[in-house]
Amino acid sequence: MSGSSANNQRILVGVSGGIAAYKAVVLVRRLIDAGCEVRVVMTEAATRFVTPLTFQAVSGQPVRVTLLDAEAESGMDHIALARWAQRVVIAPATADIMARLAAGMADDLLTTLCLATEAPVQLAPAMNRQMWAHPATQANYARLVERGVTMLGPDAGFQACGETGAGRMMEPEAIAEALLAEDAPGDMAGLDVVVTASGTREPIDPVRFLANRSSGRMGFALAAEASRRGARVTLIAGPSSLATPAGVRRVDVETAAQMQVAVESIESMDLFIGAAAVADYRVARPAEQKLKKSGASLSLDLLPNPDIIAAVAQREPRPFVIGFAAETERLAEHAAAKRQAKGMDLICANEVGAGRGFDTPDNTLLLLWQDGERALPRAAKERLATQILDTYLQIKQDFPHASR
Ligand code: C5P
Repeated sequence: MSGSSANNQRILVGVSGGIAAYKAVVLVRRLIDAGCEVRVVMTEAATRFVTPLTFQAVSGQPVRVTLLDAEAESGMDHIALARWAQRVVIAPATADIMARLAAGMADDLLTTLCLATEAPVQLAPAMNRQMWAHPATQANYARLVERGVTMLGPDAGFQACGETGAGRMMEPEAIAEALLAEDAPGDMAGLDVVVTASGTREPIDPVRFLANRSSGRMGFALAAEASRRGARVTLIAGPSSLATPAGVRRVDVETAAQMQVAVESIESMDLFIGAAAVADYRVARPAEQKLKKSGASLSLDLLPNPDIIAAVAQREPRPFVIGFAAETERLAEHAAAKRQAKGMDLICANEVGAGRGFDTPDNTLLLLWQDGERALPRAAKERLATQILDTYLQIKQDFPHASR
């Protein structure tokens, strides 16, 4: 186990009924080795995969399964157990328990504890890839995240059912590592970070607008990662269906002008990340009433929008500025010129075109700054977010007074 061995958190490990339940034994072992106090609560279904006795032997504590167990309740009852926990981790979390938690049910001890506790709840989902991808599971996932539940994984890879895909439980060592690392102060602790994300909408009339294909995924992933690393994060987002990442303050805007006002209103900024696809133009005079169709052609008079990132780069004191460039040709050359022109410290360039970059879960990036460059091979946007922030911290360390 790396780093944090002096760890004495009280962790309630919930085990629900999936084949990955056997891996929870390793998780409990790791947490105990690191100095945590662990109590295990299993669902009835989990006991079909691993016996309570196994967890009792590993944790050194009685294992609870049922809510209405008079003998157990006469010891540490379920409310006392909910209060005892400093955090609750459910690994594996099946599709079923995710659904029950999303619905706020309390039909067994584990779901009851999740309702009764004030401790943060974390889930390590584990299920067949079809079950994971099902809209019902995805909706439950989004709902739980919105409520502040944090998710560990799932990973993608070979599954016990013989298929390969997303839904595999994160490895128990990695779960333990993530839980223990959270106690250490993050490497962005104390920083004020502002992220713009998603596209803007520029109204034509009350029902129509000019927009673009940006999904907001990259900006949301950056906000989530910066928050996870301890920064105070404000996410200024154009319209997006994505859930607000845990711990992030979100300001919703629609137009570029609103985004600019929201950015300007923020006083303290150590790092600004312009990941929004801001519309370059807005309609000069949006119609007050819905435009009527006529046989004649229609022209829209467009005015240029303010350049938000360029304005931030002019601020005094000046934050470190990270921007993006989506290019269809001569990527490095165009991105380098854009970095200079807008006064960015670091630019993340990607080639766009059919199916690339916009509205996709992954991307390929070329990072360029004053004294270097780094190519990031195709990866999920969450992974790219980690690499971008690693690069930022590295530049800050190598050039503490970094500017363009
Ligand atoms: O000029 P272009 O739109 O390609 O530049 C992209 C970068 O500039 C992105 O980081 C984007 O968030 C930012 N930008 C901005 N305000 C604009 C246009 C772009 O902040 N009006």
